[in-house]
Amino acid sequence: MQRVKDKIAIVTGAASGIGAACAARLAQEGALLVVADLNLEGAQEQVRRIKESGGQAVAARVDIGEESSIDALFDLTLETWGGLDILHNNAAATSLSSTVDAAVEAVDVAVWDDTMRINLRGTMLASRRALPLMRSRGGGSIINTSSGSAQAGALGYSAYGVCKAGIENLTRYIAAQHGKEGIRCNAIAPGLIVTPVTQAYYAGELGEMMLSHHLTRRLGLPEDIAHALVYLASDEAVFVTGQVFNVDGGLLSHQPYYADEIRARSANAASAANVAKGAA
Ligand SMILES: NC(=O)c1ccc[n+]([C@@H]2O[C@H](COP(=O)([O-])OP(=O)(O)OC[C@H]3O[C@@H](n4cnc5c(N)ncnc54)[C@H](O)[C@@H]3O)[C@@H](O)[C@H]2O)c1
Repeated sequence: MQRVKDKIAIVTGAASGIGAACAARLAQEGALLVVADLNLEGAQEQVRRIKESGGQAVAARVDIGEESSIDALFDLTLETWGGLDILHNNAAATSLSSTVDAAVEAVDVAVWDDTMRINLRGTMLASRRALPLMRSRGGGSIINTSSGSAQAGALGYSAYGVCKAGIENLTRYIAAQHGKEGIRCNAIAPGLIVTPVTQAYYAGELGEMMLSHHLTRRLGLPEDIAHALVYLASDEAVFVTGQVFNVDGGLLSHQPYYADEIRARSANAASAANVAKGAA
């Protein structure tokens, strides 16, 4: 059974990484898709792949930092498919590097403003355009994209983490204001997801260090997010709204000393074994 058969869906930021996996999975599950991205060629490539696998999709260029561009995306969706049931706000300016989106004391204010304008305001604007369309069809599902960065402090990426925290509360506000209209709004907070862009970064020692802080045996993959997305988009999640769904291998679900404790216990065990060997 296809879980979102004939539902009309927009996925933003769908040319690469997590968004591409989510778009492919929604298409597999029967959705009629708009694959939207700043990178039109990338979006067109994803549409080609989706169609090759038997799915239905069109590509659109969108800049979620610009209201007129978001309006054009929704106009195209209406012209192509005639409505909207699912909006996955996945796009984010992820390329603002930690050297410019730095600690609060050093953050470039222009980068701060761009991050809020593109990621937070863009998510709000797209959701706002989706609401009347979903209302007119008796309901719908909006799935926003947060991050573990929204839920804990770090040395850099201050603007990114703060805008994602805003997206988490935007999610609750939309859920509260539109639940009685049959519109659900949830957010997925991915942990460390290895995408083509981050693959090199997590290779080797850094990847091993990161993995030691997870409760799972591997880091995340874009498909892990796509599984959660399909559930939240489908009617199986009819009683789920206003939630932030962490898909992060338990990264934020343990005591901060978890990895240190494992290392210390194994060092203790090794030294006890050595003592026992010496005594024998
Ligand atoms: N990869 C991770 O580890 C991770 C962790 C937590 C949260 N996230 C979130 O997941 C989402 C996807 O991340 P990803 O790793 O796949 O990123 P990515 O950089 O691989 O993909 C982001 C996509 O968004 C597009 N985009 C950028 N600016 C845009 C704009 N103004 N308008 C429209 N599209 C735009 C890019 O062209 C790109 O295709 C983002 O919201 C990101 O913050 C990712």
